[in-house]
Amino acid sequence: MSSRVFAVANQKGGVGKTTLAVNLAAGLARRGSCAVLDADPQGSASGWVRLATTPSNPVVPVIEVMAGVHETVEAVRDEYRYLVIDCPPSTDSPRVAQALGCVDCLLIPVLPSPMDLWASTRIEDMVKAARSGNPGLRAFLVLNQMEARNAMARGMEEVFREFTVPALRSGLARRAIYRTAALEGRSVYDLGSRGESAAKEIESVIAEVLAA
Ligand SMILES: Nc1ncnc2c1ncn2[C@@H]1O[C@H](COP(=O)(O)OP(=O)(O)OP(=O)(O)O)[C@@H](O)[C@H]1O
Ligand SMILES: [Mg+2]
Repeated sequence: MSSRVFAVANQKGGVGKTTLAVNLAAGLARRGSCAVLDADPQGSASGWVRLATTPSNPVVPVIEVMAGVHETVEAVRDEYRYLVIDCPPSTDSPRVAQALGCVDCLLIPVLPSPMDLWASTRIEDMVKAARSGNPGLRAFLVLNQMEARNAMARGMEEVFREFTVPALRSGLARRAIYRTAALEGRSVYDLGSRGESAAKEIESVIAEVLAA
């Protein structure tokens, strides 16, 4: 088995990389085996699963990247259908460049404000650079913490046009349940009706990226 490998990256901190990575992985795990590779020295994804009430049965396996990202991917790619790499909030970290060099698809969470989007241009440059060694690399912006989906989307269209990286049609709304899920060491899929709307939007993201 060879995995389909995703990375979630943006040099901006706090835009929802780990939130998207863990919930995306939980959704992918319903389709085939999936693990998160925690490439962030902050260890947020690893911490997330430690909060689970049953740590022996985590929401998804989380593997800490110790050496290079590529080496870690190669070491585990036969064991999983899908891998999701959670990257640190940096473009200087060699791990981000390493991830871009070996993944099939990069997701870039962005907050729905022009300033946040402009702050994400460096990762766009990295995508362009990475394509010389990884020509098949797909990349998408994913709007996170959306409040009024339609009004916001209209206002942001202009700004999106400045980017060569396209945005997914689906995005994530701002929902307290995403924080709750992290606090409980679970994914939004594990929270029953409380997590239903969030799980639906993660499902839309997955449907789009798997079809891409
Ligand atoms: N859609 C959302 N709705 C509500 N809260 C959210 C949403 N997405 C993320 N958050 C919250 O925002 C905070 C930052 O999210 P997260 O840790 O996923 O960002 P990050 O980009 O991984 O941060 P870092 O750059 O530090 O790695 C967390 O408290 C998280 O629970
Ligand atoms: Mg993070």
